[in-house]
Amino acid sequence: MKRSLEALIGPMSRAEFLDNYLNNTPVVTHGRLEYLSELTELPFLKSLDSLLDSWPTQVTAYMEGIADEANSKKVSTYEARELFQEGSGLCFDDANNFSPLLDEWPEAMRADLGLSALTFSRSLIYAIKKGRGTAPHFDQNINFVIQISGTKKWWVASNKHVDNPLTRHTIGIDMDPELSSYTKDGMPETFPDDGIEFTLRPGSVLFVPRGSWHMTEAISDAVSLNFTFTAPCWIDILMTALRGRLAQSSDWRATADFVTDEQLHAHAIEKFDFLLKELAHDVPGWKAKDILSATEMIDLP
Ligand SMILES: [Fe+2]
Repeated sequence: MKRSLEALIGPMSRAEFLDNYLNNTPVVTHGRLEYLSELTELPFLKSLDSLLDSWPTQVTAYMEGIADEANSKKVSTYEARELFQEGSGLCFDDANNFSPLLDEWPEAMRADLGLSALTFSRSLIYAIKKGRGTAPHFDQNINFVIQISGTKKWWVASNKHVDNPLTRHTIGIDMDPELSSYTKDGMPETFPDDGIEFTLRPGSVLFVPRGSWHMTEAISDAVSLNFTFTAPCWIDILMTALRGRLAQSSDWRATADFVTDEQLHAHAIEKFDFLLKELAHDVPGWKAKDILSATEMIDLP
């Protein structure tokens, strides 16, 4: 089977998957080893030792306390090996930079998912020690987990605290200011009690919807490969197009002079108001199709 979404989520069809995807419903499939053999047989995924032996750069290691990337540091592979034995979770970031296959897979998946060409697609590898896990959190990205070795439990719960978050958040860690600006009732102190439990074994694949709460616990030492997709939201598409359009104007390219000058800020406001008026005049002629033709670099039918 070729590199594709269906290789991961089969026997579920793409259409059935997309129903779940659009409803933010997690999807699990098991026994995909034979379809994913070119991934699971990558020499550096044979064992954590081989991964540490061949990894060309630093590793992100969770520190004592909340097991999360917000409480982590970059360490050498030598330190990572010791930290793992002491219970630290390890994350091998951007593995797609070091393995063409781990670049080609997420790219094929992005196309199958119909995500924008502006999507940040990547591969990450996680190693979690038996009995350890990751703290409850949600991510702004779309995530597919492929269990390579060991057994790991996942709990996934829908996010009733915020829809379509633009940044990740971990329980027990301060929210970023933008996230708190559109979150009405704050964040919970514990994982929601309506989470669904999944047990991943080698060859299991789990789709974790964007923004859904999740946490994990390794039942044995566990290595997983993740394909994550930070896809642009409509804000990003518009901002990209807007910048491209406004960059054509020397008036918009001008330095925003005197915006903090007591005497001259009135002059700055007058100039900016003029530019906004011009923009407002331009916007009614904008067409979604023209913008997407530019951002996606394709001719849409
Ligand atoms: Fe996550």
